[in-house]
Amino acid sequence: MVKILIMAWISVSAVSAQEVDNKFSPSYLSIKKHQEVSVKDWTNPEVCGQCHKRQYNGWKSSMHANAFKDPVFQALWALGEKATKGKTKNHCAGCHSPIGTVTDSITFNPNEGEHGSFSAPGVAAKGVSCDVCHTISGTNILKTKVLEHGNSSFEMDPGPIKRATLKNASSPFHATQYSELHSSSKLCANCHNIFHPDNNFPVERTYDEWKYSIYAQNDIQCMDCHMVPVEVAIKVADTLTRPHKLKDVDLSGLAAIGGPVRDLVHDHGFVGGNAVISKALGGNESINYKESIKRLQNVASLEMKVTNRDRGLHNVVVKVNNDRAGHNLPTSLTEVRQVWLEVVATDEQGRELLRSGTLDEKTNDLPKNTTIFNVTAVDKDGKHTEFPWEIVRFTTTNTIPPRGYKEVEYAFSLFPDSQNVTIKATLHYRSFSQHLADFLLGKGKVKVPNVEMVTLEKQYPVKNKIVIDVNKSINENH
Ligand code: HEC
Ligand code: HEC
Ligand code: HEC
Ligand code: HEC
Ligand code: HEC
Repeated sequence: MVKILIMAWISVSAVSAQEVDNKFSPSYLSIKKHQEVSVKDWTNPEVCGQCHKRQYNGWKSSMHANAFKDPVFQALWALGEKATKGKTKNHCAGCHSPIGTVTDSITFNPNEGEHGSFSAPGVAAKGVSCDVCHTISGTNILKTKVLEHGNSSFEMDPGPIKRATLKNASSPFHATQYSELHSSSKLCANCHNIFHPDNNFPVERTYDEWKYSIYAQNDIQCMDCHMVPVEVAIKVADTLTRPHKLKDVDLSGLAAIGGPVRDLVHDHGFVGGNAVISKALGGNESINYKESIKRLQNVASLEMKVTNRDRGLHNVVVKVNNDRAGHNLPTSLTEVRQVWLEVVATDEQGRELLRSGTLDEKTNDLPKNTTIFNVTAVDKDGKHTEFPWEIVRFTTTNTIPPRGYKEVEYAFSLFPDSQNVTIKATLHYRSFSQHLADFLLGKGKVKVPNVEMVTLEKQYPVKNKIVIDVNKSINENH
């Protein structure tokens, strides 16, 4: 009896700060002053929304609001939970439900849905909610294996203090504190960099991509594109100017009912490219669905040049520019996201000379030879995988860097009597293949939208097999 008591005493007193911090491992979450917490320590977004209407309306159809209930996430996580015998729980939830992780309140229901599902009480099920971001009080970057932000490397301080970047804010409901971190991409970095918890491989690195980009060099933060309307983000990207410095843009308004008019109030929709889940959970009218399509249709541009027209053989080079993403195009889950080129050449009689990258009408699959701007991920045996817990490295990387481009060459030949050539190139975006959606959610449950990002069409005449180039954009000199 005495012995047991002594051992219990030793084990309690030996819990160092370090061990307490690793309580939620493999996530790097921690609670300020290591206090014990319960779900009730965080407030529901609906309560915040009573005074912060604008922020709430943006947030409620965002992927942050959906981060825990997102059915694609849940299905993949359930597969991971089974395959790793529980090792993914604190890892995946560290970012998708930080509150559920630190309160240990998430339940796995292995027999629900296609592959299993997870549930959590109250605000823990609301993903990345107001009180997740606004109670973040610091980062744990020095504790991570890679000494960089990632795997939810942040400290939370639930309670009365709400942190952001307003000067002289005062609220009847809560205390406020100015926080430098909330003005910086470093806040986002804690969740928008993911490395494998065992082998440290950087599976998703949106923040790293941004950090070494022209945008970071010009002090353009994630917020400057993702917390403003798409029209403003376009100007930010084109002029490398932060929103509050843009002359013809007015983002002023109320940060809260009862507060003063502020020069810049931030959108909270955090719109990216996800048109699938925003539509599935919010319907056609979801603001996030419409805005994500607008964002995707304003990120890239295409150029085309005919480089060879000898002996009836034509070569065309299509150039895809990433003009306005502050990171690679696409970013994050690049092993499943699909940005691809469709190129079709026809002559004046409508005869097809070339076709690449057209979705199969029946199966919704992409033909094998399609150019996709993605990565190939493999497991420890070098086998292709789409499961993040299996990834040990990428064997190919074909995403397009910020303000960078990729060129793709296509070849085709003419019919002897072809007079005119029309070449049409289209850049498409899909969050993932229909095949993966069917596998994760059940066949036919969700139709993955195919977003046409940008199209370019060029025509030129062929006379006596000598091409006379009338179209300036088809430049043969490079
Ligand atoms: C009763 C009304 C009310 C409620 C409810 C409320 N707030 Fe506020 N909040 C305010 C007011 C007023 C301000 C100050 C606005 C200003 O000065 O422009 C404010 C300011 C803020 C700020 C800015 C802090 C800073 O220093 O930059 C944040 C962040 C914030 N609130 C988050 C929240 C969150 C999260 C919730 C829910 C947990 C919440 N608020 C609930 C009224 C409220
Ligand atoms: C993903 C993190 C995140 C979430 C979730 C989030 N916010 Fe914010 N919020 C921020 C950041 C970052 C800023 C400051 C941006 C800056 O200054 O560049 C901010 C600013 C604010 C402000 C100050 C006024 C403004 O708009 O600039 C208020 C008030 C606020 N948020 C309330 C809320 C409420 C209410 C919710 C939930 C409905 C919420 N936030 C959800 C990150 C978040
Ligand atoms: C470090 C934070 C972090 C961790 C850890 C994390 N995720 Fe995510 N996850 C994200 C972010 C950020 C996105 C959004 C990226 C985007 O939309 O491009 C995301 C998106 C996803 C999506 C895409 C959902 C959709 O609708 O397209 C899936 C699926 C997903 N995560 C599964 C997982 C699984 C399974 C795990 C654990 C093995 C995991 N995540 C661990 C941050 C994280
Ligand atoms: C606590 C973790 C966390 C923080 C902090 C965070 N995010 Fe996210 N973010 C996520 C997760 C998780 C998702 C994906 C949810 C899903 O797809 O199921 C996501 C998705 C997104 C998306 C994708 C939306 C889409 O339509 O594809 C954007 C854009 C985004 N976040 C921007 C930001 C920015 C900007 C910040 C910093 C102000 C930030 N996030 C901070 C976890 C976080
Ligand atoms: C110069 C503007 C700009 C900046 C800065 C920027 N983004 Fe983006 N982001 C975009 C555009 C445009 C898209 C849509 C195209 C795409 O998916 O890449 C996007 C898409 C995303 C997506 C969704 C990707 C997908 O396909 O699922 C996430 C997540 C994201 N951004 C997070 C961030 C984070 C985190 C930062 C800061 C580290 C950041 N962004 C900085 C413009 C920007």
